[in-house]
Amino acid sequence: MCGIVGVVGSQNTKNILLNGLHKLEYRGYDSAGIMISHNEEMFVTKTPGRVAELEALVANKESAGTGIGHTRWATHGEPTENNAHPHLSKSGRFGLVHNGVIENFEWLKETYLSDITLSGDTDSEIVVEVVDYFSKQGLSTIDAFSKMLEEVKGSYALALIDTEDDSQIFLAKNKSPLLVGLADGYNLVGSDAMAMINETDRFVEIMDGEKIILSATNMLILNKDNEEVTRDFYVAEIDANDTEKGLYPHYMLKEIDEQPAVMRTLIQEYVTPTGESTIPVEIVSEMAESDRIYVVGCGTSWHAGLVGKKMLEELTQIPVEVHLASEMGYDMPILSKKPFFIFLTQSGETADSRQVLVKINEMKLPSLTITNVKGSTLSREATHTLLLHAGPEIAVASTKAYTSQISVMLFLAKALGEKLGQEKAKGLDIVHELGIVAAAMESLVDDKDHYSELSQSFLNETRNAFYIGRGLDYAVSLEGALKLKEISYIQAEGFAAGELKHGTIALIEKGTPVVALISNKEMGSHTRGNIKEVESRGAKSLVIALEGLEKETDAIVLPHVHELVTPLVTVIPLQLLAYYASLQRDLDVDKPRNLAKSVTVE
Ligand code: F6R
Repeated sequence: MCGIVGVVGSQNTKNILLNGLHKLEYRGYDSAGIMISHNEEMFVTKTPGRVAELEALVANKESAGTGIGHTRWATHGEPTENNAHPHLSKSGRFGLVHNGVIENFEWLKETYLSDITLSGDTDSEIVVEVVDYFSKQGLSTIDAFSKMLEEVKGSYALALIDTEDDSQIFLAKNKSPLLVGLADGYNLVGSDAMAMINETDRFVEIMDGEKIILSATNMLILNKDNEEVTRDFYVAEIDANDTEKGLYPHYMLKEIDEQPAVMRTLIQEYVTPTGESTIPVEIVSEMAESDRIYVVGCGTSWHAGLVGKKMLEELTQIPVEVHLASEMGYDMPILSKKPFFIFLTQSGETADSRQVLVKINEMKLPSLTITNVKGSTLSREATHTLLLHAGPEIAVASTKAYTSQISVMLFLAKALGEKLGQEKAKGLDIVHELGIVAAAMESLVDDKDHYSELSQSFLNETRNAFYIGRGLDYAVSLEGALKLKEISYIQAEGFAAGELKHGTIALIEKGTPVVALISNKEMGSHTRGNIKEVESRGAKSLVIALEGLEKETDAIVLPHVHELVTPLVTVIPLQLLAYYASLQRDLDVDKPRNLAKSVTVE
């Protein structure tokens, strides 16, 4: 994980680096650091804290020059100052930032660095020392950098400064994201476009295996055989304002609020004014040929996949399996004769998902990535891509990406079902139903005080909680519990309502909070029975029911929506409850401990 940013040739390098690092904190925020080299002067400042702390530490430092910065999510070594990046080689000549995991770090150390005592415990520090080692053997910096790349194994995005010639930055990547930004009179590099969007909207992709020498006015791209490669820039369609939280106290609240607007954007993106699907015909045709769809994801994206399975099966009658990416790659199920793979990933960079895609590609099987990030790794490497159009999601806890993933799968299921002549798909007026969902979401997010009070009374002081439901409500229970866990640190479990009595009910005691979802008439009546079972053992329940299925005692009644899209509304109260539980505990809502937004390690 971790975020990287770099600038060459600007008078304002320090501020650009700090701004970039703030934008990249979603990739990890255990520690941060920058290095700037200019006119034979240079400094490296690092802290085990956040970028805001780094900012204070460098307030009086010079800004002009060539610089690199890093925000870290610890993999090798604790978040200490020594383990923070940039790493300066012992000779003081080379500075380096790294995102990824170097797998053969022990071999590199034994082979090249046996007489060096390293300052910290990171694999990254070894990389800069190996460059220094080759440089001391008489190689030019680009040759020393190339030789190091021949030797390292693992995933990396690297940016290196040679203080003896700081007119350029050396870059390379393998499996970890890295992008060059072209500005006027200076250039940038970053883990993503958002980190540079205040400076430029012109970006050049870097491919695995390439080496880049980036100067203020030039970008030299060399392939594996050291041949020069030319590549055009593209203009990113990101609005810099999308990445700001404006008047909101937290990104998470802003992103929860944006969900109705995202629903409307998706309608515009995926349906023409005359009601035709815009999903490319190649995707639908290829899927129509398949005998089984495999949906792959992690965390919240996996939860969205569970909902997508129901939609796809209902509207297409093609069987669907949903797999955890971290399991699937290493424990591949027996595949059907004509499988089709859907990768659900907000970031498009998740290493667990990518390792499955790599294997799928080796088998030459068709795939579709559904992602929020155009040009992301999983998008580039899959056969097809559909975008979430949710706008940047900055809060670590995913909200609007979850509801847009579900919606995009609904558009896909309808288009595929229609192609297969399925009556249910033909009969579903998706524009109408999602319009109703958007209005329902709006009414829920407008009622925030209610959720703040409910969270205060229901979750206050508890150390654990249960979320129960059946069918789609079970899938949403899993997501509700994850939201609560990750930002409030309350231990929460999502459970199939009927399964509780087969063991877990032993955990219910006086005052245990149980949130129950009821959005389906038949299954709901059984869930009501399960609520009685936990209540009679002392639990306090909070029932969230769809209009028409409610009882007087229910805490939350949701506007009625079509039965296939209930997760899009049942999840909203759960997102809000989690948000307020975190706020009321005075925790960092947007950046919960131990987490990162983009998980680029397996
Ligand atoms: C939880 C959350 C994570 C992500 C997971 C996959 O709120 O955001 O569980 O869903 O890390 O990330 P993506 O979707 O980027 O592959």
